[in-house]
Amino acid sequence: MTSHSLLSRRSVLAVVVLTITALFISKTYPFHLLTFLFGILSSILITDSLLWDALRFLSGTLPKPEIPVQFSLPASEVGGLKYTYGLDHGLLNARLDTLWLNMGYWREAKGFQEACEALARLVGDGGQIQKGDKVLDFGYGCGDQLLFWHRTYTPSLIVGVTSEPLQACVAHTRIQTANLSHQIRPFLGDAIHISNWKPLDKGSTKILSENDYDVVLSLDSCYHYTTRVNFLRLAASKLKPNGRLSISDFLLGTGFKSASFTTRMFMRVALKGVGVPEENLVEEHVYNRQMEDAGFEDVEVRDITEYVFPGLAGFIGEQRRRVGGLVDVDRKWRQYEFMRRALITAYEKKLLRFVVVSAMRRSC
Ligand SMILES: C[S@@+](CC[C@H](N)C(=O)[O-])C[C@H]1O[C@@H](n2cnc3c(N)ncnc32)[C@H](O)[C@@H]1O
Repeated sequence: MTSHSLLSRRSVLAVVVLTITALFISKTYPFHLLTFLFGILSSILITDSLLWDALRFLSGTLPKPEIPVQFSLPASEVGGLKYTYGLDHGLLNARLDTLWLNMGYWREAKGFQEACEALARLVGDGGQIQKGDKVLDFGYGCGDQLLFWHRTYTPSLIVGVTSEPLQACVAHTRIQTANLSHQIRPFLGDAIHISNWKPLDKGSTKILSENDYDVVLSLDSCYHYTTRVNFLRLAASKLKPNGRLSISDFLLGTGFKSASFTTRMFMRVALKGVGVPEENLVEEHVYNRQMEDAGFEDVEVRDITEYVFPGLAGFIGEQRRRVGGLVDVDRKWRQYEFMRRALITAYEKKLLRFVVVSAMRRSC
């Protein structure tokens, strides 16, 4: 599951209008100043930036929930009050003490953070991490899971990699703030190209050549890699004999083959759109074979689809109703709304399954 910023139609239109206006005005005024201003404005508009949010906020276009007519009071009836607090202070109340981003395990969870942590627990437990173990973690996002593995299982070392620089920096800051830089070593890079991983701390990369990890984990991430098979081979090569692998992952569902051409295309395009290569969409028997070919045995596939898709889809709908008016509905919610619908379709038509998989590296 990834979040991609798309260039909105409105932004493109705004840039076109700005270009025409700038060309028109340039006939009268010196162009260098305009070019400068135009450059700044365009970059504000075409990127999903804080500046863009600020600009929209200042121009008063931040969408607000519609106020039922009986609540609309003329200014004279509220003491001529000019300043309105509105709902912007929602931003001040938002609690960002965690930055999880996974599908969640919604069996008992009441909210997003709880569900994400519950899924992390399933994956962590599947790895049977013992006190003092060495753990290699693929796709750590903003670092919540690194801190979670540390406080829950107390391994001696966690080496992690993730691919998004912004998330890696957030994770790094959180690790430093928690004073855990010796126990948790975050890297930035593409999971399957270990020789290119960059350390976020100044420390050496020698650690990356070690092949004696007790546990390899990947929480909601390895379905993104090109390809999962390459990841499995790498994971096996990094583990000690009898070392353990535990991951959460997607499989093709039983309804995929019999679904209509359009539905299958929709699913493929949707998954491609969120960065899941087509080669990674396989049924369970192929998955098991790939695991064994990579060097794993005792493969256990636990299907938790019913505690994942409906829970997350329902949560997205509720959360949108709760805070939809507070943030920019169109731009920020579009990706999640799309995801909600895709999850419902995937669940109802049994197109996809969500699984927690654990296995042991063969001893020879
Ligand atoms: C759905 S998020 C899960 C984040 C985190 N595991 C969590 O539960 O909060 C997927 C993560 O996988 C990472 N990722 C995607 N492709 C990757 C790749 N090729 N190599 C390393 N990390 C990757 C993304 O940067 C993102 O942090």
